[in-house]
Amino acid sequence: MLDATHPASALRIETETPADAPAVEALVLAAFGPGRFAKTAERLRERAAVAAGFVARDGERLPGSVRLWSITIGGVPAVFLGPIAVAADNRKAGLGGELVQACLAWAAERGMGVLLVGDSPYFGRFGFTRAEDVRLPGPVDPRRVLWRGGDQPTGVVLPAA
Ligand SMILES: CC(C)(COP(=O)(O)OP(=O)(O)OC[C@H]1O[C@@H](n2cnc3c(N)ncnc32)[C@H](O)[C@@H]1OP(=O)(O)O)[C@@H](O)C(=O)NCCC(=O)NCCS
Repeated sequence: MLDATHPASALRIETETPADAPAVEALVLAAFGPGRFAKTAERLRERAAVAAGFVARDGERLPGSVRLWSITIGGVPAVFLGPIAVAADNRKAGLGGELVQACLAWAAERGMGVLLVGDSPYFGRFGFTRAEDVRLPGPVDPRRVLWRGGDQPTGVVLPAA
């Protein structure tokens, strides 16, 4: 289990537990609004299993969260990152970066690459580049389909158990 102390405060990055789910949902709703359910990424998440989740914990508060979902790309196992959310008053302190790094470490330990749909100006700093040859289950801006891992992935992205 990852359990690193956040350098700037008492915040800790920890593995998400089942009891965290309501707070994670509230955080994500505040960050993205209900419109997120219309997104192609949600089509994938609603049929994929959660592979791992990480939260930023500050006592009883949960100011950050991210999840990884099990997928295959062209039959090869990988994980799909998102949603990632940091509470508005905790942003720009490196928390989002720590959550991304927790995901990258989790995936690297298992020899998996990480796919996401997101802003390349943000995720580029973690080594994500465009995944040009993958097909998601719905329309998506191809500039936002990003990958970090070994070889470029190719093929249809499917939810996995
Ligand atoms: C994106 C998010 C998770 C980043 O969390 P954070 O804890 O502020 O992230 P970090 O502290 O690691 O990084 C902050 C830096 O990223 C930049 N950044 C944040 N969101 C960005 C975006 N969408 N595109 C480009 N840069 C972005 C900030 O301006 C800041 O830049 P600076 O280092 O030059 O000051 C947070 O802003 C958030 O929850 N946003 C709303 C939900 C969302 O849009 N999530 C998905 C993003 S694709």
